[in-house]
Amino acid sequence: MKELAYLNKYFYKYRWKLIPGVLFVIISNYFGILPAKVIREAFDLVKDNIDLYRLYDGFERQELVYKVFGSSLFLFGAIVLILALLRGVFLFFMRQTIILTSRHIEYDLKNEIYNHYQELDFAFFRKNNTGDMMNRATEDVNQVRNYLGPAIMYAINTVVLSIMIIYAMYAVNPKLATYSLLPIPILSVVILFINKIINKRSEKIQRQLSTLSSFVQETFSGIRVIKTYAREQDKMKSFAEESNLYNKVSLDLVRIQAVFFPLIIFLISFSTIITVYIGGIEVSNGTITAGNIAEFIIYVNQLTFPAMSLAWVTSLFQRAAASQKRINEFLKTQSNIKDGSQASILNGSIKVENISFTYPDTGIKAITNLSFEIAPGKTLAIIGKTGSGKSTLANLLLRMYDVDKGTITYDNTNIKNIKTNSLRSQIGLVPQQVFLFSDTIASNISFGLDTIDYPRVEQAAKDAAVYDNIINFEDGFETSIGERGITLSGGQKQRVSIARALIKDPQILIFDDCLSAVDTKTEEEILRNLSKIMAGKTTVFIAHRISTIKNADHIIVLDEGRIIEQGTHNELMTLKGEYFELHEKQLLEAN
Ligand SMILES: Nc1ncnc2c1ncn2[C@@H]1O[C@H](COP(=O)(O)OP(=O)(O)O)[C@@H](O)[C@H]1O
Ligand SMILES: [Mg+2]
Repeated sequence: MKELAYLNKYFYKYRWKLIPGVLFVIISNYFGILPAKVIREAFDLVKDNIDLYRLYDGFERQELVYKVFGSSLFLFGAIVLILALLRGVFLFFMRQTIILTSRHIEYDLKNEIYNHYQELDFAFFRKNNTGDMMNRATEDVNQVRNYLGPAIMYAINTVVLSIMIIYAMYAVNPKLATYSLLPIPILSVVILFINKIINKRSEKIQRQLSTLSSFVQETFSGIRVIKTYAREQDKMKSFAEESNLYNKVSLDLVRIQAVFFPLIIFLISFSTIITVYIGGIEVSNGTITAGNIAEFIIYVNQLTFPAMSLAWVTSLFQRAAASQKRINEFLKTQSNIKDGSQASILNGSIKVENISFTYPDTGIKAITNLSFEIAPGKTLAIIGKTGSGKSTLANLLLRMYDVDKGTITYDNTNIKNIKTNSLRSQIGLVPQQVFLFSDTIASNISFGLDTIDYPRVEQAAKDAAVYDNIINFEDGFETSIGERGITLSGGQKQRVSIARALIKDPQILIFDDCLSAVDTKTEEEILRNLSKIMAGKTTVFIAHRISTIKNADHIIVLDEGRIIEQGTHNELMTLKGEYFELHEKQLLEAN
């Protein structure tokens, strides 16, 4: 329940919708119990009129009594009908206010969660898998909405209706009221018990359903592998097994639900029998009328609904609390990266002093005591084996993680004091792992801009040497890629990704091994274009081919997170160390 308190701010926000909603609940319930009183009057009227009718036996007036009796019964019928209509109208208003509000809050909550996700750092996204994050923003919010809407509505309804009915019963005859109400607590206990079983079985179904859908999702993602290894039959068999399990747990639920209603009706009929029996004695004692018995039977039957919804509402509350707990866990997670406050234009000078970094989740020390400096407009190249920490360094330069030791400064400002938004928007990073959105090529290239500027998109594509490929597609820059579009080759994707960084025209460019999937001829073309673009810009060039970087102003050779050699291409060649060896090896491979 403590967890659900988080939602109170939303109740406050929508209070002018919720307060009338509660009033509508009370009014509709009032109209709900009035018919019982009308029916009592009608019953008593029937008895009186029959007596009167007998009295006038043989008189002319008898006919008149009969007529008056008929029209008054008709009137009572009409009143009951009107009351039912009024009740319906207010029920409609009740749903329109409370259920509608729950939808508004659901919308607000989803936005809040989504926006919060966007603010979290890389470490969070590595720790939590996508399915879990999606679930909290969808399925859990859905459970919470059930609390905000139906659960609260029926909870108020149950309380109001029970109080009104019990009050009405005691007002007529306390003794009869006590006896009639006797089976109700037993009924509630039985309902609570069965409801627990129903909940357990529903959860089982949910779990099996999510297993089943994960299975299907993975099958479709990996369909190529499944087909090439001819494992279709095997997958079908596994699917059938999972489906059978789902079928079994579903039937378990249906079975218990099937006994639920008959059992309730059975228990309610006990109340009715008691009412008729005790009521009959009271009538013959003359304390109540026959109409009161009819009235009581209606009350007792009306109490079935609160008794049933009590159990249902309890389970909705419990589920919502569990879901809100999961949502709160994520909402309370704060990014480890504390945003800075300065948002100045970067000149392009970068200074890295003695930095060390260990990945918090794996404990792998990726960078150790690393230092270097780049003057504005210069090119720094980083080369080294896979796993030597090159990509980690690129991420640190964008402050995707904070360093454990040492400092990174841009234009003499510590990276921690710069607004991350400002920093990242002034750096063009081409990541090692290309990711393109399921959108058009033009949208993907202009991702870093607010609008699609076609001349700039085309120029960026030309600079990245992918223009010719794009215009050869039927739809050119409007070609969709991803899920329902075409699939680009690895090299084409890398070049689109380069164009995306270039279009921003940033002062600092970082290329993380982004030419690995292009052939040497294209690589040369890109490098030629880049040398023009890079003039005056600070560039960090991460590569594993020496041919890519030999013109850099300064080259760093990384190994296990440390600098093992550095200098210009010529200096490193004369050193005859790792760099030289790598050069020889790559020369051999090329030939
Ligand atoms: N997100 C991560 N979480 C934990 N360890 C990582 C992560 N990324 C990389 N590493 C580890 O850090 C080391 C350096 O990796 P990386 O910077 O990707 O090297 P490179 O780019 O030079 O191939 C490797 O040992 C790698 O296993
Ligand atoms: Mg890498």
